[in-house]
Amino acid sequence: MLVNALTRPSDTLYFKFEMWDSDEPVPRLELLKKVKGCDGILCVLTEKIDAQLLEAAGPNLKVVSTMSVGFDHLSLDELKKRGIRVGYTPDVLTDCVAELTVALLLATSRRLIEATHEAKTGGWGTWRTLWLCGHELANSTVGILGLGRIGVAIAERLKPFKVKKFIYTDVAPRPELANMIEAEYVSFDELAKQSDFLAVCCALTQETHGICNWNLFSKMKKNAIFINTSRGGVVNQEDLYEALSTGLIAGAGLDVTTPEPLPTHHPLFTLKNCVILPHIASASYTTRNAMSALAANNLLAGLRGEPMPKELKL
Ligand code: DGY
Repeated sequence: MLVNALTRPSDTLYFKFEMWDSDEPVPRLELLKKVKGCDGILCVLTEKIDAQLLEAAGPNLKVVSTMSVGFDHLSLDELKKRGIRVGYTPDVLTDCVAELTVALLLATSRRLIEATHEAKTGGWGTWRTLWLCGHELANSTVGILGLGRIGVAIAERLKPFKVKKFIYTDVAPRPELANMIEAEYVSFDELAKQSDFLAVCCALTQETHGICNWNLFSKMKKNAIFINTSRGGVVNQEDLYEALSTGLIAGAGLDVTTPEPLPTHHPLFTLKNCVILPHIASASYTTRNAMSALAANNLLAGLRGEPMPKELKL
């Protein structure tokens, strides 16, 4: 959504909105053309807000509001340089993302997708002792890579499954969050070595790009389940394929990939021990409504020069 502010004699600010009224992303060329002269942009994560787009928008642009908690599609340096304020949507999606992460973890560890496929396609024969056995959460160690609100919410939901221990790593210990789930701070290597389940919850930045690679997978347990609901860019997918196909780790559940959509001929789709979802972690009606309302309120506050409900500090 593109916005122009129109000032009336009464000093009241009126806004003219132009909305891209489709579920498909706005074509880049169309966006570059339409963005010229606008005061605000409300975008989703498919829109790259980079130097080219900011140049096309011109000096009127005051605020970019993204309907997402992730902001790797925004060139923060370029926004900062131009004094453009940024709104985003943390917190309102925490429960929904945590719930989906648990669902994906269980679907992967208990092999639910394989199992329904077998049941539907005649693979279900007599009861067999080891057929479709998976790994259970009871007595396990769950590792969290990047402890924030979502990591805490995942751990809170997993605790009733009788997890033995929560561990996490981050750039530094985060005691205020870790205490809520009695999680122990460990090094990156220890996280790899100790985790039976490893949930990636960190933001995609230059530092985390490709951080889940052979170095991580080669230290993980053979029974380990790797789950990623953050961003595809944190994973080296070639290394993950190698780790899954050679039995170095037991399984992976991915809600995010590079690219998105992941082409249907991608090798990861050939693996039974890899469950891939099409980036749906925040996809509940309640959460998407809350995200869009928050994004709209951030945008309006930014245009009025008021504090935003959720502003990203640049
Ligand atoms: C976000 O908000 O960044 C999520 O990835 C959307 O589901």
